[in-house]
Order: sequence, then C-alpha cells, then structure tokens
Amino acid sequence: MPTLLDLTSQGDVGTITDESKLSASYTLQTPQQLYELWERQQWQSHVIDLSQDREDWMALSEDDRAHLSWNLSSFFIGEERVTTQFSGLVQAYEDQSEEAYLTTQQVDEARHAQHFNRFYEQVVGLDGTFDARLERARNDLNPAFIQLFDGELVQSGKRLIADPTDIEAKVDFVTLYHMIIEGTLALTGQFFITEYLEEKGILPGFVEGFRLISQDEHRHVAYGTWFLQQKARDPALRRRIADRLMHLIPIAAGVLVPPGADPYNFEILGYSSEQTNGFAFKALNRRLKVIGVDMAAAAA
Ligand SMILES: [Fe+2]
Ligand SMILES: [Fe+2]
Repeated sequence: MPTLLDLTSQGDVGTITDESKLSASYTLQTPQQLYELWERQQWQSHVIDLSQDREDWMALSEDDRAHLSWNLSSFFIGEERVTTQFSGLVQAYEDQSEEAYLTTQQVDEARHAQHFNRFYEQVVGLDGTFDARLERARNDLNPAFIQLFDGELVQSGKRLIADPTDIEAKVDFVTLYHMIIEGTLALTGQFFITEYLEEKGILPGFVEGFRLISQDEHRHVAYGTWFLQQKARDPALRRRIADRLMHLIPIAAGVLVPPGADPYNFEILGYSSEQTNGFAFKALNRRLKVIGVDMAAAAA
C-alpha cells in the first residue's frame, strides 16, 4: 500500500525526466531539451497487444469493472479534452524552441486518447465510432470533472485563442492544465491505477500504454513547471498563479471523488481518500516550491 513517503522515494513516480531530480538550484529542463527528449521517447499506441486484456476484463467481477470504468472514463475523456483544448497554447509560443516543444505535447495528447479509444473498443467492447465511445464514457463522469474540463479548461483555452500574446491568460492556462490537470490529477490517478493493476496482474497491454503515457505526462509537467517558474519571477504573476490555484484546488479535489461517495471519506480501488488526496497535493506543493509560489501566503 503506498503512503505519502512513496512520493519522495519514487521521485514522483518516475525517473523519466530531470524534473524528478530537482536540485537546490532548481534548474529545470528547457523547452528545447524537452523537445529533444520527446524525439527519444517515441512510441506507437496501435501496436500494443490487448488480447490478454480482453480476457482479463471479461473475468473481472461486475463491481471491479464498475470501479475501473469510472477511473478509466475520466482518463479517456480527459485525454480528449486536453487534446482539443491545447491549440491556444501552441499559438502562444514565445520562441522557436517553445513552439517546437508545444506542438509535440498536442500530438502526445492525441496519442493518449488513441490508446484509450482502442482499449474501449477492443477490451471494454464498445462498438461504434471514437466519438460514440467518448459519449458513452461521459456517463461515468462526476460534476466536478465536467466543471473542470468542460468549464474552466474550455474557458481558459478560449481566452488564449482570442489573444495568444496575453501572458496572464497563458499563465492561467498552464496553471490549470499543467499544474492541476496533469501534475495533480493525472499523475496521481496513473500512480494508483497502475499499482492496482500490477498488483492484480491484469490488463498488461493497458498498463504498457499507461506507463508510456505517464512518461509523456512527466515531460509535460516539466514544461509547465519551467514556464511558471519563469513567469513567477514577476510578483504580480506569482500572486496570480496562487490565486488561480486557490480557486481550482477544491474543484480538482472533487474530480477524485467517485459518484455518490462521501467527498471526505471515500475509497478508490482500495486506496483511501486520504492516500489519494495526500499524494496529489504533496506532488503539487513540491512543484510550487520549485516555481516559487507560496500557497500559505495566498491563503492569508
Ligand atoms: Fe495525456
Ligand atoms: Fe499531458
């Protein structure tokens, strides 16, 4: 069973990027370095073998399938949302290296959605189109998820598309997308779901793709941390990041709550709300330290 200490011992669930090896000097990888890392970390979602996964899925109890469905649907829709809402940030690049990096992130997100679409088609057995499967998976989502991904994220993306030179809009977007959605929610979900499936020894194809997705997400979060660290040198932007987080964290906490569960005391795949929330928010706080944002000051 993981504890909060696992976060430090595992370097935030990965040794993929230098983000997990932050030194006191807090030197982060630049967009140029992250672009080059992307070239070295290519993978293909469509070659992963899902045949054993289908057998495993059919052998699961109704209850286990329902629990997993809720968790996986959030990722399936989440990957679709972050792909389609990313375009404004690509337009908001400030130099050529950043542009190169940002284009890679959008295609990564499309590939992640492809992995889930394939899983829902071949393993869960949902017929029809990609769009029809997304629509079916939407039935599993909770209201906080809708608020964050259809409300906050879409609004934030529209502001950036309206004016890609608006630095405040860019800071708001990256705070939501890279710090909350990826750094807090996605990496936490990936850690617990992967551990659960590996302990049970099931869905090996899904896990193979999910680990590669996690590798990409660490690179994405490394970009967001780098970007916000640069901008947080300006006290007004630093304050802005903290204010956005104060608004977004309660919504993000709601995303982790299974439908119908007590938000203060629930279990996901056998992990307590204390464990999942603790993991999520410790990961966030560690990055905020690197960025130079003090949430305690913002709350005062
Ligand atoms: Fe993703
Ligand atoms: Fe991502």
